[in-house]
Amino acid sequence: MKDRLSTNKDAQQADMKNYYKVQAKIYDLTRWLFLFGRFSVWKHVPFDRQAAISILDVGCGTGVNSAKMARLFPNAHITALDVSEDMLAQAAKRLKPFGDKVSLVHQPYEKNPAHSERYDLIHFSYALTMINPQWQDLLEQAQADLKPGGVIVVADFHDTPVRYYKKFMRANHVRLDGHLLPVLKQMFRPVFHRVGKGYLGVWEYFQFVGQRLDA
Ligand SMILES: C[S@@+](CC[C@H](N)C(=O)[O-])C[C@H]1O[C@@H](n2cnc3c(N)ncnc32)[C@H](O)[C@@H]1O
Repeated sequence: MKDRLSTNKDAQQADMKNYYKVQAKIYDLTRWLFLFGRFSVWKHVPFDRQAAISILDVGCGTGVNSAKMARLFPNAHITALDVSEDMLAQAAKRLKPFGDKVSLVHQPYEKNPAHSERYDLIHFSYALTMINPQWQDLLEQAQADLKPGGVIVVADFHDTPVRYYKKFMRANHVRLDGHLLPVLKQMFRPVFHRVGKGYLGVWEYFQFVGQRLDA
């Protein structure tokens, strides 16, 4: 099996565009079988449901989480951003009923000198394990884009004891090395975190809710 972990930022963005050309068509049919923890994490998000918060959904994919947020926070504005136009086309269909509560943005999330402090909440669901090698740059940008008191919400793969599975996931651009959670705990003040097992422990996934540190 070929190791397809991306080796630099430009390659990563190109890899995602290519990978999701085909995957976008079957994404919603298949991913509910293994992307665990995406929805239950919202129980732990410390915002009033009526709050008029500003949310960034990084790597929104087909928009399943943005739709969940739009329902959970009816007064929020959601920016749903993705590097893949094919995934974003699926998201556009799903998110149409929410009108101007949701803005779709076709661009990569990446480190830039701007500190926008624009968002109350930044969400990454099963994106960071595919953003190699620059995932830590994106977390630094999230720190810079969160308002004081802002919250990061992450659900993603954690690790696996099964070598074949690790290789299989790397062939699909996903890094499972338990590398995200320890860094998230250092960069943000943990509000909630949990590691769960997928299929009796073939792999682990994690959920993390944290607050910007200088809040
Ligand atoms: C596994 S999918 C997750 C989609 C969605 N968040 C979910 O939970 O179903 C990963 C998504 O991240 C997007 N992505 C990967 N790298 C990105 C980057 N650098 N900037 C923005 N989006 C990116 C991909 O195009 C893809 O839609």
